[in-house]
Amino acid sequence: MPNIPGKISSKAEKLRKELDYHNRLYYVDAKPEITDFEYDKLMKELISIEETYPGLKTPDSSTQRVGGEPLKEFKTVTHSVPMMSLDNTYSHEDLLEFDKRVRKVTEKFTYTVEIKIDGLAVAVRYKNGIFVTGATRGDGVKGDDATENIKTVKSLPLKIADRKFLNMEARGEVYLSKKQFEVINEEREKADEALFANPRNAAAGALKLLDPRVVASRKLSLFIYTLIEPEKFGVAGQFEALEKLKELGFPVNEGFKKLPDMDAVIKYIDSFEEKRHGLPYAVDGMVIKVNEFDKQEILGVTAKSPRWAIAYKFKAEQAKTRLNAITVQVGRVGSLTPVAELEPVRLAGTTVKRATLHNEDEIERKDIRIGDIVIVEKAGEIIPEVVGVDTQARTGKEKKFKMPTECPACGAKVVREEEEKATRCINVKCPAQLEGRITHFGGREAMNIDGMGPAVVEQMIRNKMIKDYGDLYSLTIFDVANMDRMGQKSADNLLGEIENSKKRELENLIFALGIRNVGQQTAEVLAENYDTLDKLAEAKDEELTRIHEIGKVVAEDILDFFKAKENKEVIEKLRKAGVNMKRLKKKVTKNILNGRVFVFTGEMSKYSRGEAGSIVKSLGGRVSSSVGKDTAYVVVGNEPGSKYDKAVKLGLKTVNEQEFLKIIQQ
Ligand code: IVH
Repeated sequence: MPNIPGKISSKAEKLRKELDYHNRLYYVDAKPEITDFEYDKLMKELISIEETYPGLKTPDSSTQRVGGEPLKEFKTVTHSVPMMSLDNTYSHEDLLEFDKRVRKVTEKFTYTVEIKIDGLAVAVRYKNGIFVTGATRGDGVKGDDATENIKTVKSLPLKIADRKFLNMEARGEVYLSKKQFEVINEEREKADEALFANPRNAAAGALKLLDPRVVASRKLSLFIYTLIEPEKFGVAGQFEALEKLKELGFPVNEGFKKLPDMDAVIKYIDSFEEKRHGLPYAVDGMVIKVNEFDKQEILGVTAKSPRWAIAYKFKAEQAKTRLNAITVQVGRVGSLTPVAELEPVRLAGTTVKRATLHNEDEIERKDIRIGDIVIVEKAGEIIPEVVGVDTQARTGKEKKFKMPTECPACGAKVVREEEEKATRCINVKCPAQLEGRITHFGGREAMNIDGMGPAVVEQMIRNKMIKDYGDLYSLTIFDVANMDRMGQKSADNLLGEIENSKKRELENLIFALGIRNVGQQTAEVLAENYDTLDKLAEAKDEELTRIHEIGKVVAEDILDFFKAKENKEVIEKLRKAGVNMKRLKKKVTKNILNGRVFVFTGEMSKYSRGEAGSIVKSLGGRVSSSVGKDTAYVVVGNEPGSKYDKAVKLGLKTVNEQEFLKIIQQ
């Protein structure tokens, strides 16, 4: 390790302090003093010093927030005190009832009212002034150790300066701002991924990710509302605790107030109800807490929630307007979504003109007809939804809606998947889905055509060079070299990649076709059971469902795919181009494992998980990522995770590495 000059070490210390200071101004106080550019410059400087002198890295450095190495799974953390939930109410009467109940037990107290953000509860622990553990709520007693993920939240202090509070725990809510929620959903739409219904689900999804670098890109936010063991610090009430937490540098929502009685609480809540729409995050209610901790103690807790607190949930705001028409959108993965075209109406701070109607069943269930006066609500305060109909306002002229039997984008016959309630266009040539389908076709696990990202595909479609992925194989050097930002060399490379893709394995081709619900693993299973694409294309329903991994829905998706005339045409193009349609790999050599399912947890010394999995599969066994009824063996390596606990709970057979090696060497 290089010797660290004293000058450099004090420079790093100074940069860290500066970054902490500006971080707090920006993320906690919302009063930045420097530009983002200047902040990034300071950050880059510190990163560069820490890279040259790794000995200077400290766990509380701002550079540590960007996300470390991916984890295999989360460890479990037992909470210092259980993380409880709150009783909910929706009416003033309930609040007065709550007040009565409290007064029966104690007197001379005040209330603290806070805003309630719909996110996820987390616990953050500090040791010797340094942030050491961040945990999710889990079942309230034990949660996931999400330290690295929670560390990416920029407003969370990584260090506590107040000497009295060096060893402490606080709790609060991780959430996503309305803006960030929209950004994430836009990105997901582009990547053909299912959209999150509300910011809470999006935040939950982010916290569950195993790669902290991806979590960092989701830009989670945080509000802290609880100080654990306040008596240890001489703090006597919730209001004081919030003031103290703020002083320590925690992000505390400004909306909190100490009020003398329930009448004042109700007044405050009512005054807040309208204001919430203007906030940059979704607020779903308010939390009312008996302020004094000694009174809280007297009131105690029930099995699930404290008797000294209650959540008042705001009703989602509603508006009535006319449903002028129902249009049908074709998504990037082929789903047909009916959309309500509304007479513009003001709702919760914005003008609403369109709202999703989800699917045909929803329309039927709510009996929504074209021309109806409908009730619109904002789900999670963000996405407008039609929740019902004012049937009193009907004139008799309203018309029932029928889902089209042909795709509005390409005219192909659509399929209706009973179990999923969705109507889909499965035509691989459908222009609404083309970019996604072709990008998928060229993907690494599919045909592995390097250099064919979304931008290149988009240009090929725009220039009418291709109408489906079958056309890729007729592209010439003249076509490709004429594209923007494409030199002779990259054109040659791309054509070479396309040529090479003709030799891909059958399982890659099956995956590349983009059959709904046929992911990599299913494609592999199909290739193992059918040696050629033609045999798969002719497979019967009973035959497919006989395969252990193939359920009814997937079988139906496969049959539908090969039945569609447009898809047959594209497969013929692939065949004519000389794309391999046979299984090249040898079959399972020894079927000693006979379909038995293995689950791995923890690390082994001889093989990586991928290697061990391949061996199991080559011996006719199967690998699953989660334990369940059909698990035959749970292979337990070093530092196993929660799968081990679950296996023990379910009484499954667990084996260590040595035993596993014996099984595969039988
Ligand atoms: S106090 C023992 N305060 O709401 C009481 N919770 O429905 C623990 N929440 O699990 C909670 N804002 O995730 C409290 N200011 C606030 C809150 C809040 C949001 C969440 C929290 C809790 C859930 C209960």
